[in-house]
Amino acid sequence: MTDNSKIKLLYKKKFNEITKHNKLYYTKDSPKISDFEYDKIKQDLLELEKKYPFLKKDKSINDIVGAKPSNKFKKIDHLSPMLSLANAFSLEDMSDFLKKINNFLNQNDKKLTLFCEPKIDGISATLIYEKGILTRGLSRGDGKVGEDILENLKTIHNLPQKIQSKDVPSIIEIRCEIFIGKKDFTKLSDKFANPRNAAGGSLRQKNPKETSKVPLKYFAYGFGKVLPMKFTTQEEFLQKIKKWNFTINPLSEAVNNLEDIETKHKQMELLRSSLDYDIDGLVYKVNNLSLQKRLGNTSNSPRWAIAYKFSAEKAVTKIKDIVIQVGRTGAITPVAKVEPVTVGGVVVSNATLHNEDEISRKDIRIGDTIKIQRAGDVIPQVVSVDISKRHKNSKKYIFPKKCLCGAETKKELSKSTRKHDAVRRCTRGYDCIFTAKEKLKHIVSKEAFNIDGLGKKVIEQFWDLNFIKEPSNIFDLNYNKIKNLEGWGELSINNLKKAIKKSQIVSLDKFIYSIGIRHIGQENAKILAGFFSSIKEFSKLFDIKNRKKILINLVDLDGIGETQIQSIENFFLNKTNTRIIENLITKLNIKDYVAQNSDGKFSNKKLMFTGGFKDMSRSEAKEIAENNGGKVLGSISKKLDYLVVGDSKPTKSKIEQAKQLNIKIILEKDWNKILNS
Ligand code: IVH
Repeated sequence: MTDNSKIKLLYKKKFNEITKHNKLYYTKDSPKISDFEYDKIKQDLLELEKKYPFLKKDKSINDIVGAKPSNKFKKIDHLSPMLSLANAFSLEDMSDFLKKINNFLNQNDKKLTLFCEPKIDGISATLIYEKGILTRGLSRGDGKVGEDILENLKTIHNLPQKIQSKDVPSIIEIRCEIFIGKKDFTKLSDKFANPRNAAGGSLRQKNPKETSKVPLKYFAYGFGKVLPMKFTTQEEFLQKIKKWNFTINPLSEAVNNLEDIETKHKQMELLRSSLDYDIDGLVYKVNNLSLQKRLGNTSNSPRWAIAYKFSAEKAVTKIKDIVIQVGRTGAITPVAKVEPVTVGGVVVSNATLHNEDEISRKDIRIGDTIKIQRAGDVIPQVVSVDISKRHKNSKKYIFPKKCLCGAETKKELSKSTRKHDAVRRCTRGYDCIFTAKEKLKHIVSKEAFNIDGLGKKVIEQFWDLNFIKEPSNIFDLNYNKIKNLEGWGELSINNLKKAIKKSQIVSLDKFIYSIGIRHIGQENAKILAGFFSSIKEFSKLFDIKNRKKILINLVDLDGIGETQIQSIENFFLNKTNTRIIENLITKLNIKDYVAQNSDGKFSNKKLMFTGGFKDMSRSEAKEIAENNGGKVLGSISKKLDYLVVGDSKPTKSKIEQAKQLNIKIILEKDWNKILNS
């Protein structure tokens, strides 16, 4: 082969590779490589083209990869975090949502007005106006930090770049959804699988001229920071911004009860296909903004809003095989490998079967014809089996009792419910290589160490190459070895180094969450971090003698129960777990926990509640105490500073105990006075 043909061949190989990844990214919306890896291939191709111009004769790489999102956008902070929404899938879920709100606000029989808006299936963006001038435009990013896409947003023709009104706040963050009309989408080239992907691709263009070629539209639906705040309801906010020339969705309206919700849902489900934009459900928001403020947020989503999704799209296919997957908590999940089928514009070849009980309840077998459904980003599920199509020789599926690592699996007995868990688990923790690999993926994920460039695929690859076998290895990577791998170059390696270095400084709560103790999610990790305060204190759990004493004390923490304590104990009983976590600690700079609201009326005070309050629920009282720097305990001990006694049915023995221990008692009327002071 001549040198030129060798080069052509190499070029063609890389060209095909990038075409494949483009397709995975745009049409399947499931990229298989990191941006760094992608950039490396692109860079190699550009270099080849520069060196050997004859390669460009047919098509240059620039002709096909113009739209790949870039990681080179400037990062900017949102002024207030952009949260996501919890989902409801049935009227029952909506009824629960209403009940929860009324319970939290302790207003059982009061009427609650919700504001209902279509949930646009597009790309969210934040617009920041200072003194009425659009100064910043951001993508969602991780909700805290977004990318500077201002110039691209400015190409949307009816998006106000100035708010011309006397009553414009000095700062206002407007949240909106960017989309492409369905009709406009059909006129675009077939590079994208659906309008949402096309809107995303267009918004992430480096060159705003490219963005302006696609007719983007938007609906404004919410706000972040507003100074000074003058609105009192969601409806009033929308009407006001409409006057300021923002486009709001015309199908939005206030609703007052579950019947209204049901009617609206049916009506919109029928209307859905006739709209020129995709919607995947309706968003319901508590209309009154002061109630919204009282309700506040959980870690990721507001308590005052929910997305009631339309029924999932369904499709019929056949099960080719059933395999098992091991999760980071050792959970064994059966997965059906199905004949590829398109559901809601996405090709599906896997569907979850949840657990052993689900398989036997539905009597799901290999070879069965099944109906699957896919709702939003949720993994497709098997809805039903068509028994009439079953082969007469088919056999019941026998669920494997062993993990992929060969160890026996267990169904745990819950101490609180005394029932066996539906899920089988491998209990070997880091000793099981399948669990260990998943734990690594969790550690590098967004909510944990958030290491850009070290995604799931790279972890798989580095695991196979023996580069990373436990978390501490992340910080000892041999970059010379990585340099020789396909897809890695100087730029991507430098970025990876930077991301890893950045992740070494971590807050105690993030660290506790990251190590992946079962039942310890983000919220519980914060509670534990508040209790331990420093890694030094937390590390005392490694020693069995200390551990017992500490675990007893955890019972005091409101939110931590027997299940969590048992799980922490099990985690540290495993010697491999402790060794691995100790190794990890040596690589990190773990910052002492600073409560988000350490200053306030109850700064550094420990409170406990007994009895009910007239104007608020226990949950709201707890949240207020925490937002004011206090810690809420679940039992009486010397450590307690205040026992807050609600007028309705307080526990007498608790008051007695508190008196004996000289703990200050706050009565309901005093509590209200403190809050209003
Ligand atoms: S309200 C605190 N209203 O859905 C979150 N979101 O899952 C408040 N979306 O990121 C979101 N239409 O991109 C809201 N009318 C609407 C919406 C809407 C679409 C998107 C938005 C958000 C995502 C939440």
